[in-house]
Amino acid sequence: KKIELDESSVEKGAYAHFMLKEIHEQPSVVRRLVSNYLNDTYTFDQNLIEKMRQSDRIYVLAAGTSMHAGFIGKRLFESLAGIPTEVHIASEFAYQMPLLTKNPFFVLVSQSGETADLRACLVKLKKRNYEILTITNVITSTLAREANYALELFAGPEIAVASTKAYVAQVGLLAILANELGARPINLYQELTKVALAIENFLSEEKTLDITRRMFTKKECFYIGRGVDYYIGLEAALKLKEISYIHTEGFAAGELKHGTIALIEEDTPVVAIISDISISSNTRSNLKEVEARGAKTLIISMKEASQKDDDIVLDDVYPLLSPMVMVVPTQLFSYYAALVRSYDIDKPRNLAKSVTVE
Ligand code: G6P
Repeated sequence: KKIELDESSVEKGAYAHFMLKEIHEQPSVVRRLVSNYLNDTYTFDQNLIEKMRQSDRIYVLAAGTSMHAGFIGKRLFESLAGIPTEVHIASEFAYQMPLLTKNPFFVLVSQSGETADLRACLVKLKKRNYEILTITNVITSTLAREANYALELFAGPEIAVASTKAYVAQVGLLAILANELGARPINLYQELTKVALAIENFLSEEKTLDITRRMFTKKECFYIGRGVDYYIGLEAALKLKEISYIHTEGFAAGELKHGTIALIEEDTPVVAIISDISISSNTRSNLKEVEARGAKTLIISMKEASQKDDDIVLDDVYPLLSPMVMVVPTQLFSYYAALVRSYDIDKPRNLAKSVTVE
């Protein structure tokens, strides 16, 4: 089945492309999550919450950008709710199912709710009578209908093939769910409001076009980071590949030296993502290592972990929510890298918005 997006009902407005519009919608996407889930009247399905609290392990299954949001979800479930969590590539999990724990719970993360690789997982898990939650932007989708539980992202239709606002919404909703499971250890109303503001502050005076022109001139690029910053790098790299066709890898900063540093040449672009102050000095020294080999480097940091000459410094937010803010400049790098190359930004070659074949 092919999913046709009804673009006629969604307008680009003043924006040249849907992707740019969707990037700019992100503060309101975050605020919508807050007003829909963190108000006085919304209550989670208590069966869902109980089932998840009782489970000894959460398995997050997803593909592409949604999987990258799932990685942050793992950290959120473990840190806010104390539930061990694994993240799996859906197309691998469906055919190489790992040895599961006694009482697993499954979370499918999918913007479209139609990804065939996830459906393959769902069918197999249902046969084994496991319970499944789908987190999706399309509440009427196949995966939402066929799962036991479904939660909606409320990000509004995402038209550009490269996913942006859905990622931010996925991380936000995973945080809301994890906080609920952990009996609300943090004030997410406040923290997500800060996230929306931090994105807005950045967008109001961003200079990513200039940086893109200077930085992303080669056919290759690396993003490095540690902890959640590594996961942000994975998403940043995917986005750059998808629409600008620059071969980009997201790397754990400490791992680059174990082989891949051999690829660094004069002017190879390397972007460091630094939100976590506790490991920022390690990432900075990894960056020095590649600079010594000729790399052209760029640093995106959060205020608390920043240093004077960092290229982009974003407002501080709750550490595990930093991906929602840090990802935004990387989305714009991809956008502008494709724009200056005159590529088809909203419909990149070889890609489909929703992949309904395995
Ligand atoms: C396709 C899209 C990606 C997306 C992935 C997963 O490959 O091009 O942007 O991340 O599918 O899609 P889903 O709808 O399941 O999140």
